Amino acid sequence: MCSIIGYKGKDFAAPILVNSLKRMEYRGYDSVGVATLDEGKLLVRKGTGKVAEVNNKLDMSHMSGHIGIGHTRWATHGGVTDKNAHPHAAGDNKIAVVHNGIIENYKELKAELIKEGYIFASETDSEVIAHLLHRYYIETESIKQSLIKTCKRLQGAYAFVAVFQDGTIGGARYEEPLIIGVAKEGYFVSSDVLGFLEHTDKAIFLDNGDITIVDNDKVEIFDFEGNPVNRPITQVAWELGDIDKGKYAHHTLKEIDEQKLSIIRAYNQEEEKIDEFCKILSAAKNVYIVGSGTSYHSALVAKHVLGRYAKIRVEAIMSSESKYILSSLDKDSVVIAISQSGETADVLDSVRLAKNQGTKILSIVNVTTSSLARMSDSFLGTNSGPEIGVAATKSFTAQLIIIYSIADKLSEGKLGLDKEKLIHAVDRMLSNKSTVERLAQELKNHKDLYILGRFLHYPIALEGALKVKELAYVHAEGIAAGELKHGPLALMEKNTVVMILNPHDSTFNDTISNAHEIKARGATVVGISDSKEDVYDYWIPIPALSEEALYPIVEVIPLQLLAYYLAVGKNVDPDYPRNLAKSVTVR
Ligand code: M6R
Repeated sequence: MCSIIGYKGKDFAAPILVNSLKRMEYRGYDSVGVATLDEGKLLVRKGTGKVAEVNNKLDMSHMSGHIGIGHTRWATHGGVTDKNAHPHAAGDNKIAVVHNGIIENYKELKAELIKEGYIFASETDSEVIAHLLHRYYIETESIKQSLIKTCKRLQGAYAFVAVFQDGTIGGARYEEPLIIGVAKEGYFVSSDVLGFLEHTDKAIFLDNGDITIVDNDKVEIFDFEGNPVNRPITQVAWELGDIDKGKYAHHTLKEIDEQKLSIIRAYNQEEEKIDEFCKILSAAKNVYIVGSGTSYHSALVAKHVLGRYAKIRVEAIMSSESKYILSSLDKDSVVIAISQSGETADVLDSVRLAKNQGTKILSIVNVTTSSLARMSDSFLGTNSGPEIGVAATKSFTAQLIIIYSIADKLSEGKLGLDKEKLIHAVDRMLSNKSTVERLAQELKNHKDLYILGRFLHYPIALEGALKVKELAYVHAEGIAAGELKHGPLALMEKNTVVMILNPHDSTFNDTISNAHEIKARGATVVGISDSKEDVYDYWIPIPALSEEALYPIVEVIPLQLLAYYLAVGKNVDPDYPRNLAKSVTVR
């Protein structure tokens, strides 16, 4: 996923663009670039590295002009090189383009353009957009027509913003988000509201197939046939304070800490929305839950919780696998999609596949203006606020709260969701981080880490392992405790470290036996539990809870913290893990 931004207004564009790119850097961070227009001359500066580094090197924020575009890249086509960084220019610097997405037919387009004499400077798929715009602009002498004709040629997923030599900013969206920010001093065209939230909270969300032109202080929106399209101006609910790190060294730690508030916000749902969601769910004959990464782990928890308490049998499916599995749905089925961003390509693909078969879509989503929310028959917002750290933390526990609220409602309170006790328990986990910080110091040179859990704790073992892998680059594996004897026990020896999710619930007795089996092989046992047991070499205490379904929310916190402190101890940036992007909008 990349971030794109365009600005046209009264202020100098470059410092605004650089700042916007810093705000959106979580979307992609291997290279960066800015193009501004000054007195009809297009200036382009770009290079590999993070925004601050490239800005230090190239002084992008002092480029002149009041009109410009910018980009941070997460490489898909073409390596991480200065040349492949966006913007891409065409027509002897008459047009420059930034793009997010993948142009699937770029090879054919590129061959066609090369035949016509166009020279490509990069290996990217994106550069074809710049040359197509130029070609159609020459042909039609109309920016509007050049945008329309270009969009009609592109296949794949894209949002792009282009700056033309006469000062016009043009953009289009197809399967990737593009939002116009309407500020007093000018207009923004951005892939995320975070690109302009510092300047305005008024936004126009473009829909698939919308093209926009920002020119002479007005915005025009039209479809691929050139027909005008009306999109309302909406007020963005997020506030600037939500996207600042404040006193924290990293967004990730801030977001882990925010869980004491974000779980309360997740509880606060409109009664009618929960009712509508539950009504659709309880009428379904078959229920499937899809998600990717962390959101898939929420789906696994949902499967157990809905099954045990609401007696609804559910299949949890990784979104990336759904095309092989969800081929025979019908109107009586329901697909619940879980996603923080609401823009993950695999999740949206699952939803499209289901919708095409007449299946109802429910979703649990943080970004309520996202594609997923729009595609859903009913959705519940996790209300987590922006999550900037690439690792999902507060959005995960908020997803669990919503799943529990649904299960509690459908089971008429059987789950026993004691809001006050849970909030208190989360608060306790977050007020004492030193045990986990010390443990991270001890474990920082270990190359492997195993996390064991049964039933509801198994998805948390998977989630903890995912956090450790992505933040600290340590090989970590979540293991279903009962499966230990079927293979993983062979890995247990001196120096192996195994973390055991072991609260006093229905899984305790079986899991403590696993702890002994592991210890007997000389491995180190770390117990995450509400009681201290002799078998633990290290103990991470968690508060005792009356209802076992609630333990996952509490026990995931030390795993999030461990991953964070391991990363810090290894001197790697936990906010921006290598090779990753916050939401994966490519397949
Ligand atoms: O925005 P989504 O919830 O759809 O994102 C799904 C995954 O890409 C995401 O959870 C990813 O696994 C995180 N980086 C994990 O921390």
